[in-house]
Amino acid sequence: MTYYKLLFLIFFSFLTGFSQKSQQAILIEQRVDSLLSQMTVSEKVGQLVLYSGSWDVTGPPSDLGNQKKLDNIKKGKVGAMLNVTSVAGAKKLQKAVLDHSRLKIPLLFGYDLIHGFKTIFPIPLAETASWDLEAIQNSAGITAREATASGINWAFGPMVDISRDARWGRVMEGAGEDPFLGSKVAVARVQGFQGKDLSDPHTLAACVKHFAAYGFAEAGRDYNTVSIGAYELFNTVLPPFKAAVDAGVASVMSAFNELDGIPTSAHKELLTGILKEKWNWDGFIVSDWGSIVELILHGYAKDQKEAAYRAINAGNDMDMEGRVYEKHLETLITENKVAIQLLDDAVKRILRVKFKLGLFDDPYRYLNEKREQSEIYTQENLEAAEDMALKSIVLLQNKNNILPISKKVTSIAVIGPLAADKDTPLGNWRGKAEKESAISLLEGIQEILPKSTKISYAKGVHLGLGERSFTNELTLNRTDDNGIEEAVALAKNAEIVVLVIGEEAFQSGEGRSQVSIELTNPQKKLFEAVQKVNKNLVVVLMNGRPLAIPDVAEKAPAILEAWHLGSRSGNAIARILFGAYNPSGKLPVSFPRHIGQVPLYYNTKSTGRPANAQGMVFWSHYTDERNAPLFPFGHGLCYTSFTYSNFKISKETFSKKEKITASVKLTNTGKVAGKEVVQLYIQDLFGSLTRPIKELKGFELVTLNPGESKIVSFIIDEKLLQFYTANKKWEAEPGDFKVYIGGSSYTDLVQKFRLTDL
Ligand code: NOJ
Repeated sequence: MTYYKLLFLIFFSFLTGFSQKSQQAILIEQRVDSLLSQMTVSEKVGQLVLYSGSWDVTGPPSDLGNQKKLDNIKKGKVGAMLNVTSVAGAKKLQKAVLDHSRLKIPLLFGYDLIHGFKTIFPIPLAETASWDLEAIQNSAGITAREATASGINWAFGPMVDISRDARWGRVMEGAGEDPFLGSKVAVARVQGFQGKDLSDPHTLAACVKHFAAYGFAEAGRDYNTVSIGAYELFNTVLPPFKAAVDAGVASVMSAFNELDGIPTSAHKELLTGILKEKWNWDGFIVSDWGSIVELILHGYAKDQKEAAYRAINAGNDMDMEGRVYEKHLETLITENKVAIQLLDDAVKRILRVKFKLGLFDDPYRYLNEKREQSEIYTQENLEAAEDMALKSIVLLQNKNNILPISKKVTSIAVIGPLAADKDTPLGNWRGKAEKESAISLLEGIQEILPKSTKISYAKGVHLGLGERSFTNELTLNRTDDNGIEEAVALAKNAEIVVLVIGEEAFQSGEGRSQVSIELTNPQKKLFEAVQKVNKNLVVVLMNGRPLAIPDVAEKAPAILEAWHLGSRSGNAIARILFGAYNPSGKLPVSFPRHIGQVPLYYNTKSTGRPANAQGMVFWSHYTDERNAPLFPFGHGLCYTSFTYSNFKISKETFSKKEKITASVKLTNTGKVAGKEVVQLYIQDLFGSLTRPIKELKGFELVTLNPGESKIVSFIIDEKLLQFYTANKKWEAEPGDFKVYIGGSSYTDLVQKFRLTDL
């Protein structure tokens, strides 16, 4: 941009009342252009290179040693680092750039911030169960504060992949199966990370991932092929990314998977066509770990040079640990195979974020030892983690109101492989958490109950065996059931039993797909044996994915879904068990009865044969299992009861220019105060493409005292009814709709309306 053009723009901006933000953006563009004009091709390529430090290993390391990496940093051949997680470490590298490289372009420091930095929050799937966007934003905000106090200025999160497959280990990292809820949560997390001002040293640049359709891996096997069509891509997969882009997300990570024959890390239509052009987004794209060099293994590039060529041409701006841009981009430019404008565009996108972060004004702005000592793992942050955990718990079942347990209980047996576990609640992406640093449920119960209560504990059976880590395979105990007898003896003599079973922390997460989503055999045996001797039984589940537990649901009166809840897991669960907190979580994923039902999701299509006809087999069903889930999307109970009445819509026919209101009276008909997530679902009855039987289109958290009522209303307008139609655009089609309101996706409280063109 020329000097005069800039002056004109600034003048114009004053005249038209441009905000300060826009003026800042103009200034940043000018600084980006000016810096770019001074850069050599080699320095430009350098900005596209992302190395991992050896502090933390979150992927297969490249063959380049630390010393060589440092040498390249000094030469200005590296733009960003990941997995450098201390101020001292980051300072050393930032100083290397500033002391030795010609243009002194500060490094970005990226890290996976999935559910906390050192203070660990519930896994993202669990947080989503709160449906509490403010709390989710706060959790991301605290994570950003802790990470930035440790030198990180770029979060590899939020993960916004919609998934309907419980076999896929990474369901724990996302917001579940629904694109509407997923979009809201994506925005909350981006805003939590980025705050209002990226140059505030307590905020950092976010990175939504994995673009795109990574959650639709065939057979739920991680990194596997994806072959969904345009309908699913636009209506289900892309909405959370689009929402994050609209919220100003600074970066996007391309995925490992191919999509219908093209690896997403070199998918021009996705990366350039949709993300950069159609959505007019000016952030930068980073590949996932090695996903550019993996184009060769995909069979999409014959060698590293071709991989670099394909990825940069597709619009992938930065190469994470793949080392193909660093090796081949300069040559590709010299040989005129890659246009310099393409390289310039990538560099500009990266520099723009560095300017926005304020790194050029002060490259050490995130590198403050005092903050590192005082702002991480504070009492206040731990309390926030506990609050989030309370909100994330879902009461799945509570027959005869066995919960909450009275604190006057005289004896309680706390049983199960996860009952005293201080590590599993930390979950899979536990950042810098100390091993074994979570409060176990046993500890939580001991803390909350009077000293006089007899609390007995038995592990019953082992779950994970031997060494456990983020990177290596986990061995599960599949046969040894030696401790069951001891557990049964305790269960027999206790007034009530709390049985804590489920999944190890490292059963879900990256590379942790499973063909079974049932409990391990020894846990099943333990459950059977315990429930035989004591019917006063509460099952607490800890898991990172939906589990198929039909037997538990049949025989245990109460089931509490406690996921992997983070640092203060035990305190939060205990408070709910003993009624100090009324649970309010609702499932963000359907829980199947059987693995054979997967992929299972509430917003399914009708099919041409949805219902049993004349007792014959010719309808869409299984002959050996029901179609329905064990627990549906949106389901969750509490210690009070809510009734819905007076469901009304303000007008039955309305045009695209109008809006209507759907309202309902919610009453707390129970004996204690409680919170309900009121959910709005819509069905578009006929479309240019077939439509789901129900789609979440709104929700509101309502807290009511006993006897209290509130009218809850939702606005329905043309925008809310849009989908990606046969015309290949987002629009609402005139026609008939049903609208449902209730406390889960299984609500049948229904009204009808018609949308007209005029
Ligand atoms: C691979 C994962 O897929 C991605 O989510 C993560 O951000 C990178 N590794 C870096 O750790």
